[in-house]
Amino acid sequence: MNITVNIYYTGENGNARKFAEEMIQSGTVDKIRNENGNLRYDYFQPFDDPETVLLIDQWTSQDAIDVHHASPMMQTIAKLREKYGLKMKVERYISDEDGIPDKDKKFIVKKEETIMSKKLVAYFSASGVTAGLAKNLAEAAGADLYEIKPAVPYTNADLNWQDKNSRSSVEMNDKSFRPAIADTNANIADYDTIFVGFPIWWYVAPTIINTFLEAYNFSGKTIVLFATSGGSGMGNSAKGLKPSVSETAVIMDGKRFAASTSVDELKKWVESLGV
Ligand SMILES: Cc1cc2nc3c(=O)[nH]c(=O)nc-3n(C[C@H](O)[C@H](O)[C@H](O)COP(=O)(O)O)c2cc1C
Repeated sequence: MNITVNIYYTGENGNARKFAEEMIQSGTVDKIRNENGNLRYDYFQPFDDPETVLLIDQWTSQDAIDVHHASPMMQTIAKLREKYGLKMKVERYISDEDGIPDKDKKFIVKKEETIMSKKLVAYFSASGVTAGLAKNLAEAAGADLYEIKPAVPYTNADLNWQDKNSRSSVEMNDKSFRPAIADTNANIADYDTIFVGFPIWWYVAPTIINTFLEAYNFSGKTIVLFATSGGSGMGNSAKGLKPSVSETAVIMDGKRFAASTSVDELKKWVESLGV
């Protein structure tokens, strides 16, 4: 249990703010924060009321508050309040952290969740190279990992790009073809940023990536592409994928990486994206 006391100090000509500043500069606030049982002693100002300052102070128990009220500090505070001619309004709350109903807990966003966007690394890998990179990227980005699996896996013969009649050659010759995916379990709705990885096929993303994008709602999401290849860059991958997502999704061109790219290098890349 802890007790929170909100005190609104209101004055004129910026006096409430001056009062708070003097409390801090004179070291009084530091002294209070060092008192036994004090958890918090912070001033805030409402956006639309420059003549009011809100003090939020929090204590471990009523005993701690009683000791504070009996300390000489209270005289210092009272004198300052008189000096600045402030009026006070007080609210008092007792914590009930154990009593928050589950249905309300979802509205209470922890500090870290608010700051960090939730990231997913989703990848397709026909022969394992992109899979290795995706795993490192997920570690670098602190992201979850999801494999885009074809309903029918590609065999070596399917991947023979020198054979005009191989499955991959036939599929990539028809950009409207959508190879089926094995599942739609990626929970895209839970993420803000989705890294989408693939091997470059014929200078672009394989069309199974279009199938994946079309299977979910990417409205408002940021999609960052990444790939491995025998040497080609991202080419027109983003252009070929854009029609498969909502207009409100952002697709970042991203980057082609060597299979051996380290977690540290990937970390620097992720940081440079600002996502
Ligand atoms: C059908 C097919 C087409 C490919 N086209 C290209 C290409 O245009 N440029 C390139 O550099 N590599 C190309 N590659 C090589 C792959 O991009 C590369 O080997 C990739 O790292 C494989 O990743 P994976 O193991 O995750 O499938 C192609 C491979 C296949 C199977």
